[in-house]
Amino acid sequence: MDTAAAHRGWTSSPLRPPDKRSERPAPQWGGSFRVPRIREQIFDRHGGRERTSDVAPTGIIRGMTDTLSTQSIPQVELAFKPTPLHYFPRLREAWGGPHIWVKRDDLTGFGLSGNKVRKLEFHMAAAMESGCDTVITCGAYQSNHCRATALAGARFGLDVRLVLRTPDGNEPEASVANLRIDTLAGAKISYISEAQWPDRDEIMAADEAELAEQGHKSWVIPQGASDKLGMWGMSLGFREFVDQVPEVIGADVAAVCHTGSSGGTTSGFGWGADRTGFRNPIVALCISEPAQNLIDRVDRIWRAGVETFGGDMPQPDLQYVDDYLCGGYGKVNDELVETMVEATRLTGLLFDTTYTGKAMYGLKNEIRKGRFDPDDHIVFWHTGGGFGAVN
Ligand SMILES: Cc1ncc(COP(=O)(O)O)c(C=O)c1O
Repeated sequence: MDTAAAHRGWTSSPLRPPDKRSERPAPQWGGSFRVPRIREQIFDRHGGRERTSDVAPTGIIRGMTDTLSTQSIPQVELAFKPTPLHYFPRLREAWGGPHIWVKRDDLTGFGLSGNKVRKLEFHMAAAMESGCDTVITCGAYQSNHCRATALAGARFGLDVRLVLRTPDGNEPEASVANLRIDTLAGAKISYISEAQWPDRDEIMAADEAELAEQGHKSWVIPQGASDKLGMWGMSLGFREFVDQVPEVIGADVAAVCHTGSSGGTTSGFGWGADRTGFRNPIVALCISEPAQNLIDRVDRIWRAGVETFGGDMPQPDLQYVDDYLCGGYGKVNDELVETMVEATRLTGLLFDTTYTGKAMYGLKNEIRKGRFDPDDHIVFWHTGGGFGAVN
């Protein structure tokens, strides 16, 4: 019996294995790159959990189409999942509307946080599987997606090149929030102006070609990782949510509201809803552009998804609200800022004025307009972006 244990009245278990720590070789910091675990993800037509119709109605038609794809798609694990689903009663008390639950994708990680991490699990795996040593992507200079990509690249030992948009194409004077993290993570940054933004794909292709001449192979991720792979990651998030509802909420979910911008999230939720049989509205609160732009993007992403993952074009109840754009991406008004602050004071959660704060502003106003029944249970999907709150 060792003395410390005896002092507390404990006995050491005789079955305890001998401590082998001193025999282990010293760790080799900065050693060779290890290929991460890549998981093959297969949902076959009859796979997935058996569901019965006696569970509380949840807006889900059970046991029918519990399949998202028949393909296998490589994935690395970056996010803490499942993210929790929390109830925030003070929002209802203050806004007089439905019961509001929040799906906490702000908790997918700390630096590597937000909805983008779900998308990157598939992009990073694809990059490594195809032997790339570099990842190129683009966004606004405070892009959450670029920050998450910079950190994910660091995690796997991939070089990250970011094409960042500023109003005039010059480097911003203050390197704060996401931009600071990009730099900390070692991403190499080039700046383009708003006028050059429509050519972002060509600019990234030119970077890719230049790097190829130097012997590098690059994986190019489009804006917001909003393509079929990003959609796939978000659709699995939706499936995760559908699985949580009976146990956590135990009631019908009348609507799932989220921030809609480059289309990966909205298309993924729509895909996931269709494939799991969730029939209630999925509400995209547009924060950057008119609804039609998002509708067109979702359509394009789904078409690419159907080609790759199979099945029919999804037909979920997707609804788009673009009454709260406040003039476009990153633009704010006083009421939006007040709502963002109010939402933080009612929940203890962080919101930013570009994404989730603007969506909350939209949600509050939709509640005011009587869009939901006071007894409804609705979900606000928190997509992250907390660094924008301290920008
Ligand atoms: C915090 C946050 N929420 C929502 C979105 C919108 O997601 P999507 O681009 O998939 O529409 C973004 C996109 O950058 C984001 O950073």
